[in-house]
Amino acid sequence: MQILVIGSGGREHALVWKIAQSPRVKKIFCAPGNAGTSDQAENIPIPADDIQALLEFALTNQIDLTVVGPEQALVLGIVDLFESKGLRVFGPSRLAAELEGSKAFSKNLMKKYGIPTADYEVFDALEPALEYVDKKSGPQVVKADGLAAGKGVILCSSPAEARDAIQSIMKEKSFGSAGERIVVEEFLVGEEISVLAFADGKNVLALDSAQDHKAAYDGDRGPNTGGMGAYSPAPLLTPALKEQVMREILQPAVDAMAKEGRLFRGILYAGLMLTANGPKTLEFNVRWGDPETQPLLARLKTDLIDLMNASIDGTLDKISAEWAQETAVCVVMAAKGYPESYEKGKIISGIENADKEIGVKVFHAGTKSVSGNILTNGGRVLGVTALGADRDTAIQNAYKAVEKITWDGIHYRKDIGQRPSS
Ligand code: AMP
Ligand code: GLY
Repeated sequence: MQILVIGSGGREHALVWKIAQSPRVKKIFCAPGNAGTSDQAENIPIPADDIQALLEFALTNQIDLTVVGPEQALVLGIVDLFESKGLRVFGPSRLAAELEGSKAFSKNLMKKYGIPTADYEVFDALEPALEYVDKKSGPQVVKADGLAAGKGVILCSSPAEARDAIQSIMKEKSFGSAGERIVVEEFLVGEEISVLAFADGKNVLALDSAQDHKAAYDGDRGPNTGGMGAYSPAPLLTPALKEQVMREILQPAVDAMAKEGRLFRGILYAGLMLTANGPKTLEFNVRWGDPETQPLLARLKTDLIDLMNASIDGTLDKISAEWAQETAVCVVMAAKGYPESYEKGKIISGIENADKEIGVKVFHAGTKSVSGNILTNGGRVLGVTALGADRDTAIQNAYKAVEKITWDGIHYRKDIGQRPSS
């Protein structure tokens, strides 16, 4: 088989790495890829959101299966476009991707079908939104409706802060057209966990558990990022809780999408808050998480091609996923300044030495190769992923490898894998 992976992050490097292990795969392309994906795939310089150029590439190069990483391409309808030309592609259609592409759509769906989530209101105009938050007391959350590269959520500790957030999104248009509509919701308290599942329009097959660390600095301080590290399994998701999440959230969401005429195929990612009143859905994503995918795929024993095929063909009820007993920990190494503005073009050293450590795989994210050097080329630069017999060993293995890597202005959290309550 010839495979095309779309995207250029750590998630896509992990996908390329795992797909390359399938005996059925002959050749992998990655568009646009990074300095790590080019080890096992041929990088193609097409941006991940240029879906027309990607289609032409897939048709010309007899691609048997396309795997889409980033949400943008899915929301733009890459799956519909590829399928209209008879190409196989793993991911949800444009209508199904609205589950991530519009927070208002997602919240309204959850309300309609009784899927637990924070109480909320949707606003299309500034004044009613301001009046609404003024009547509340305490913390509230203001969210831009559309895609905002993970930044469209503002946690506000008072009505005054919520006013500022609404003004910034709706008046100053800080997220552009993504903020023409907003969601204001109840502030939830608890531990966060990500539950990802394969869906085939009808059946749901949950992946093993993973937990992300979103805050930029140790002890969960600082601004939210795309994710500074993740580990799997997350003991917080007990078998009973997982069963509850399947019953109350994931299966109802897939059933609801089917009823709405928006069959959901691909990865459904539920970002959950484990509150005193049970798990509540913070958001749905319609794709693999980054960095959760790195530790998850490091532990997946089943051929990923088989799982993706079952999702496309509607046969997930006939397959299961097997996971290594070990724990996997992924430490994200970022550029100084991330998640705000950051520098690029710094020479990275030590990746090869880190990769030589037992059970370690260094997944590239924002890197590029220039005349024999690997340079930083993004906010999240590397995801050092290590297996260990237990969580402490995996953490030790990951940080031993992390310490071998240097560049000017390196930044990473020292407490990945350690959650207070797990
Ligand atoms: P989202 O993109 O909607 O998942 O939001 C990004 C992050 O904001 C989440 O991972 C949470 O840390 C936080 N967050 C979102 N919604 C809420 C909420 N209702 N209460 C508390 N924190 C939230
Ligand atoms: N790690 C969070 C996400 O992929 O959205």
